[in-house]
This record gives sequence, C-alpha cells and structure tokens, in this order.
Amino acid sequence: MKKNKTVYVCQQCGAQYPRWLGRCTECGEWNTLVEETMESSKPSSRHDWLGMESTRPELIEQISEQNTQRMESGYQELDRVLGGGIVPGSMILFGGEPGIGKSTLLLQLCLQLSDRHDVLYISGEESPQQIKMRAKRLGFRNQPVKLMIETALERIIEIIQQDRPRIVIIDSIQTVYSEGMESAPGSVGQVKNAAASLLRLAKQQHITFFLIGHITKEGTIAGPKVLEHMVDTVLYFEGDRLADFRIIRAVKNRFGAIGEVGVFQMSGQGLNEILNPSAIFMPESSEARSGVSISSSLEGTRAFLIEIQSLASPANFGYPQRVANGIDNRRLSMLLAVLEKKLHLRIGMHDIFVNLIGGIQVKEPGIDLAIAMAIYSSFQDLPLDSKALFLGELGLTGEIRPVSQPDLRIKEADKLGFTTCYLSHFSKPENPLNHLKLIKVKNLKEVIDHL
Ligand code: TYD
Ligand code: MG
Repeated sequence: MKKNKTVYVCQQCGAQYPRWLGRCTECGEWNTLVEETMESSKPSSRHDWLGMESTRPELIEQISEQNTQRMESGYQELDRVLGGGIVPGSMILFGGEPGIGKSTLLLQLCLQLSDRHDVLYISGEESPQQIKMRAKRLGFRNQPVKLMIETALERIIEIIQQDRPRIVIIDSIQTVYSEGMESAPGSVGQVKNAAASLLRLAKQQHITFFLIGHITKEGTIAGPKVLEHMVDTVLYFEGDRLADFRIIRAVKNRFGAIGEVGVFQMSGQGLNEILNPSAIFMPESSEARSGVSISSSLEGTRAFLIEIQSLASPANFGYPQRVANGIDNRRLSMLLAVLEKKLHLRIGMHDIFVNLIGGIQVKEPGIDLAIAMAIYSSFQDLPLDSKALFLGELGLTGEIRPVSQPDLRIKEADKLGFTTCYLSHFSKPENPLNHLKLIKVKNLKEVIDHL
C-alpha cells in the first residue's frame, strides 16, 4: 500500500529534511524549504525508476545499434553543443532565465525538424494563438508541427503514447504537474516526478525530449538544477537579455564534450546562428580608448576575441564598489590586490567596474592579464594599443603564466588584423607567426615597461 510522508524540500537544490529549517544546510539558501508530500512506496517493478528494461549480460559488440543515428537539428551551432546532433531517445534539459529565448529557439527547432520527423510542442505557458503568432514571426510556412496546451502529466503521457511523436518539447517542465501528488505545481517534488515519468517514456519508446526549465535567481521556482543528474544533456542559455547575443553552453552531456558553446543572435525574426563567432564580442571601431583591452578566451574548440572594459573612478562614498559583469567577483578582488601590491596602484579608494562586452561569461583565467590591463589603463587614463592582444593568467606574485593553446588564439587575432600579442615568457607557440609581434613577459611590471 502507498503511504504518504511529509518532507521539507529545498526549492533551490532539492535537499530533503524531516523537519522545517530556516536555512538549507546543503546549499546555504534561506527560506527555501517547502512542505511536500511524497509517496513512500517502493518501486513496484524492476524497471520502475527510469524505465530501463533489465537485460542479461551480453557482449557490447552484439548490442543492436538500431535507431541510434543522430538527427541533425538544422542548426550547426546547436548540433555542435549536442556533440554532433540530437541523439534519439535522449532527454535534453534546456535552462535559462525567463525571456532569454528558450521558447523561441525550440519553436524554431520544431519548424526545422518537422519536415523529417514528427514533432509535438507542448506548452503550459502560452495560448495556441500566441504560439502561432510567434511561429509566423519565425517564418512559419505551414510546416506540420503539432501543438498542445497541457499541464497535467497523466494527460501528456496519454497523448504521447497515442500519437507517438519522435520529438517532444515541454515548455516548461515547471508547469507540468501530477494530479496524484499533493505538492504545488512547480515544486521540487512535482518537477522531479514529471521529469522521471517522461524519462521513462523517452527510454521505453525512444522519444527525444527537450525540457525547458526556467532559472530564477530568487529560487522561488524549483530550479532545473534538481534535474541535472537525471537527464542526458544539460544546456544553458546565457547572455544579456537586453543585448542580442545568446550563448548555449553544455554543462553536462552524455554524448559529447562539455564546455562547447553555440552562438546565436536574437533578431526580429527569431534567433540566427553565428557560424563564425570569433569576433562578435569585439567593437567595430578600433580607436584606442582608455579602460579597454582585448583578450582571447577558449570556449570548447574555438577561440573568441573578447573586449574587456573597465572604469576606475574615485569612490564618492566611504565604501568603494567592485562590480564585475562576465567574470567572477572574487577573481576581480584578487586581480585588484595584485595590481595594488605589485604596481603600487592606489586603487583602494576607487570604484572599479569591469564588463565583458556582449554578455559573455568567461571562467578561464587566461584573460586575467587583459582584465588587469583594462583596469590599469582606466586608472592611469592611458589608452592601450587597440591592435594588441593580452594573453595570460596572473599569479598572486604578479607573475604571468602561460595560457592553454596560445596558437589557436593568436591565429584568430591574426585573421582580424592584430599586430601585437603580450604573453607569458614561458609560452611556446609552436608555429612561428609572421604577422603578430610576440612580446614575452614575466610579470606585470614588464608589461607596463613595454607599453
Ligand atoms: P522567449 O523565447 O519567450 O523567452 P523564454 O522562453 O526563454 O522565456 O523570448 C522572448 C524574448 O525574445 C522577448 O523579449 C521577445 C524576443 N524576441 C525577439 O526579439 N525576436 C523574435 O523573433 C522573437 C520570437 C522574440
Ligand atoms: Mg518561454
């Protein structure tokens, strides 16, 4: 017999507690615990959880490869992040902030795929008329895309079993709820249960699912994070909602490399892919301005040139501000401490702003030197050479360390007409490059002496 038990579930990370707490001890968020009822029944059959049929031991070489050929999405940039196309029967979680363009991209995907595959778009967020209007904006030419407005899990499963589509989009997983559960729609319990049921269907019937998941900073809706371990692939949509560029990043992929990115641009007619994105985060004008430096960041297998802007201005109030967009705030604090100590810059009483152009976020430390130079340039009001590339990670002692794959980065810069590259004394680009002058430096001081 099924027995219900009450648990308190953190809506941010999914941790469960037997009693209420003010703060989740797993993720540290305050006021995120919500009472939910869970069915405490044991899985009723041997393949109840993920729906995988158990098999007898068999040789891998004898396993059938039927229906495993990847499908092309119609977008090279999306295929790239998926590891070379859509794997049939896989479940892909597509996360991002509201308004970033998730519904737009997946509707476009449906339009692209519909001439080769049966697709079903299930929405719990918009009316059929709204979706049709959007489809028209995206160049709808009467493609056979089916649309259904539904939020009840049981009904969704029933329809999918009847209709047998090959590809299903769920917009969004947070709107899907099971009538058999007492928790509120959008709660961790509901979202996890819905995803698990759909996953079972995906594996049994070889249907590909794209689940849209909203991320909110406040954590009021269960984050897609709680689903990451279940699904095959997790893609996140990044970018500044107010700017045009959108980056899709794979943070988990059972069928491909992670870290690969796909680049799109939002237009009046939906998202267009950018096939040659090395220069999109660069300005069109090339005049030298103080507070601006250029670096190159490695995203997956490609190098992107990135413009870094900084502003250092005397703080008006007692406590100076440090604001970083696109890089980690702690990294900025570290770079400021190194600048202060090694170059004796008196930036302690200055507000410091750092911004990566185009809304891109960079985690790799190879752009450290460029960030430090942008701050230095703004502080001294000294424009840097606009055709110079700064590559290097900065150590705590002010030393400049080599970046990975300098050749790839320098090659891109070369194509775009850069003339100089500052890089670590210890870097060894393998191909001697004719056009760029390489300036090898050991520490920050040497860079300044060279300017
Ligand atoms: P949407 O796909 O609804 O976002 P999400 O599903 O992630 O919440 O995207 C909405 C934004 O995109 C909205 O602000 C309008 C803009 N947009 C365009 O600029 N051009 C277009 O062709 C479309 C369809 C949307
Ligand atoms: Mg949407």
